[in-house]
Amino acid sequence: MSDEPLAHLDTHVEELLAAVEALNSLEELIASEPSLVGKRSVLSSLQKSLGSLSPEERRDAGARLQEARRRVDEALRVRRVALEQAARDAELAADYLDLGDVVAGGVEVPLGVGHPGIVALTQYALEEVFVGMGFRVEDGPEVESDWYNFEALNIPPAHPARGMWDTFYLELGEPESVVLRTHTSPTQIHLMERAVAENSLPLHAVMPGRCYRRDTPDARHLASFHQIEGIVVDRGITFADLAGTIDTFTRAYFGPDIDSRLRPGYFPFTEPSAEFEITCTLCRGEGCRTCSQTGWIELGGCGMIDPAVFDAVGIDAGEWSGFAFGFGIDRCAQMRHEIADMRALIENDVRFLRQFS
Ligand code: DAH
Repeated sequence: MSDEPLAHLDTHVEELLAAVEALNSLEELIASEPSLVGKRSVLSSLQKSLGSLSPEERRDAGARLQEARRRVDEALRVRRVALEQAARDAELAADYLDLGDVVAGGVEVPLGVGHPGIVALTQYALEEVFVGMGFRVEDGPEVESDWYNFEALNIPPAHPARGMWDTFYLELGEPESVVLRTHTSPTQIHLMERAVAENSLPLHAVMPGRCYRRDTPDARHLASFHQIEGIVVDRGITFADLAGTIDTFTRAYFGPDIDSRLRPGYFPFTEPSAEFEITCTLCRGEGCRTCSQTGWIELGGCGMIDPAVFDAVGIDAGEWSGFAFGFGIDRCAQMRHEIADMRALIENDVRFLRQFS
């Protein structure tokens, strides 16, 4: 007798594998299992039909059937694993807890912003303008000896010009006084000393930092404020270089419709000296309370470095010349952002701070 009973075995197997592949859920798989591989399945009835075969034929056919069953069982096993995994994924997705929803439904916890406040942001913006003009950015100490804050800047003890700065003294007198720097100008001295020691002139640098004065705060003054100092020491530097630098800076930082002007002034460390003013941005030059009705706001001072200063640091004034300037960073923030009263910068009123976050 032939193995006629298994004539369509391959087709049955293909159909069974396709049926297994088509199972869409674990429930379906469990429900279909008896008809696919159970006692009433095609494979089981084929098994029964082998009884009519000769022992030899039965052995071969049995082996083929066993192999067929193994393939279908394996397909079922693989399918079960995949469906179990899919069921677990679906369960996890259903359980997913969106913490955003929890917060939205609960109490909002407002997050603060870091406090690179408006003054720090202004400092970074100013640095960027000057770096673009070829200056490097340097730092100096806030606590200075009398020599750096005054003497080296051509302000000897008891010089009447000391009255220009109401100074916080940390130590008085012997061997010399220690002060909170009243301006960033002493950093010029540190940089020039270093340039001499390292033989690295010329020098083009800006030096931002905090300064202190015993001033009563008002709309334009704070007792603790910030300046940015600038210095250029090179060969053949003239007042025209200074004026051009100030003008280029003003337009780059405040925009083309804000003018700058230099008015003759006096500082012991520069000769000639000038006061650096810009159009008041609050009234556009019309005159208002903030600019005391003048239409101009003084940002700071500038001038050609006095030979006495070069002497103090050991720079040959015959070979080198230079200019320097120093102005208020808080004042720049005030003008750039049209802040009527500078005290807003230190009051930490969140309604004010939030505007710059
Ligand atoms: N240090 C001066 C002040 O705080 C401002 C100043 C004036 C700085 C002239 C300079 C300068 O570098 O050349 O009042």
